Amino acid sequence: MTVTVNAVTIANLADEMEPCLEEISLEKRDEVAGHCQAKRKWFEEANNKYGVCAFVAYLDGRPAGLVEFLPVNAVPYPEERPKDTVFILCSYVRADSQKKGVGKTLFQHLIRFLKTTPLSYLEGRKAVAIEVYVPEVDSSWPPNIRFPTGSKEFYEKLGFRLKRQLSRQKGHLYRLEF
Ligand SMILES: CC(C)(COP(=O)(O)OP(=O)(O)OC[C@H]1O[C@@H](n2cnc3c(N)ncnc32)[C@H](O)[C@@H]1OP(=O)(O)O)[C@@H](O)C(=O)NCCC(=O)NCCS
Repeated sequence: MTVTVNAVTIANLADEMEPCLEEISLEKRDEVAGHCQAKRKWFEEANNKYGVCAFVAYLDGRPAGLVEFLPVNAVPYPEERPKDTVFILCSYVRADSQKKGVGKTLFQHLIRFLKTTPLSYLEGRKAVAIEVYVPEVDSSWPPNIRFPTGSKEFYEKLGFRLKRQLSRQKGHLYRLEF
């Protein structure tokens, strides 16, 4: 099995959105079309303003996973905004492609990119760290809702360390220092 990773642009945005749409039945696709339009608009603006802000992973050529990231100052919900830090908005690997190394390859690509690329939104500096919220999913969550950023173990294996427990919601803030 081969995993490849590409930066997301408007040209391959549909590939990036495909893993998230995997469980939507054909009848409901019209219902989500409006959300897709909104996502397209959001992505276009973010891409113009920040440059590369998402990667898509392909497993044997088929879109299988994604990671979206923005400067921490551009994300509405963090409780603090550490300097030169990038925040993960969303990451997800489609159900039939999980536990096959897709997430790990995707994040290794992201980490390499951030360690080596001067970023215009950091005034030409490189990022010093990435952060991600990892919520506790328990029985209070509706069964059809899975928070897409994934599991603590996954991030710990990639070298992320627990920064602190979240005060506003049940979960954890993880940080990877470069
Ligand atoms: C979490 C997620 C991003 C990981 O991507 P993935 O492609 O399945 O992960 P990989 O196969 O690259 O795994 C990398 C490592 O993390 C470990 N890992 C991945 N998911 C894990 C999980 N849920 N629990 C424990 N370990 C996990 C793997 O065993 C592997 O370990 P190894 O390097 O020692 O072999 C992906 O599974 C996902 O999007 N899941 C859906 C979200 C979810 O699970 N939500 C519910 C809980 S919040």
